[in-house]
Amino acid sequence: VVLVGLMGVGKSTVGRKLASLLQRDFVDADEAIVEAAQRSIPEIFETFGEAYFRDGERRVIARLMDESHGVIATGGGAFVDPATRALVLERGIAVWIDCDIDTLVERTARRGNRPLLKNGDPHDILTRLAQERAPFYGQAHIRVISETGPHADTARAIIEAIDQWL
Ligand code: S3P
Repeated sequence: VVLVGLMGVGKSTVGRKLASLLQRDFVDADEAIVEAAQRSIPEIFETFGEAYFRDGERRVIARLMDESHGVIATGGGAFVDPATRALVLERGIAVWIDCDIDTLVERTARRGNRPLLKNGDPHDILTRLAQERAPFYGQAHIRVISETGPHADTARAIIEAIDQWL
């Protein structure tokens, strides 16, 4: 199961919960990139730029898909990449976690670790990204709305949606 969607929808927290409910392992693609690069995501963006990050992201996710993990949380831009999207759609169950922008603004404001939100008003940036990326996220097999409630509810909603989809 591969979780996709914008920054702040809760892919990592929901993913961990989902994996524990399914009794499968969980891996966070952003964490795997940081481990492989031995640098934080803001450092990778600052030092090498976004294109370099995207290149590493594509390779790391391809490796994670090969390793057959139970649940993978991806960074918000990963599913926009055509190669990553094709791989995930072919070999995984892609789940788009969708959420309203105000909730995303509130959640992403808690941590200053997202380079794409640094150069402007986060509400405007997230609104633009949501519009630009909707056609890609919309290709996921399953779409689940993340309510403002506990992430565990979203994890349970994903299991129900997967059951129906299967
Ligand atoms: C990004 C989302 C981030 C991280 C990077 C770029 C994006 O991951 O990969 O900052 O392009 O939306 P999260 O979705 O886990 O915040």
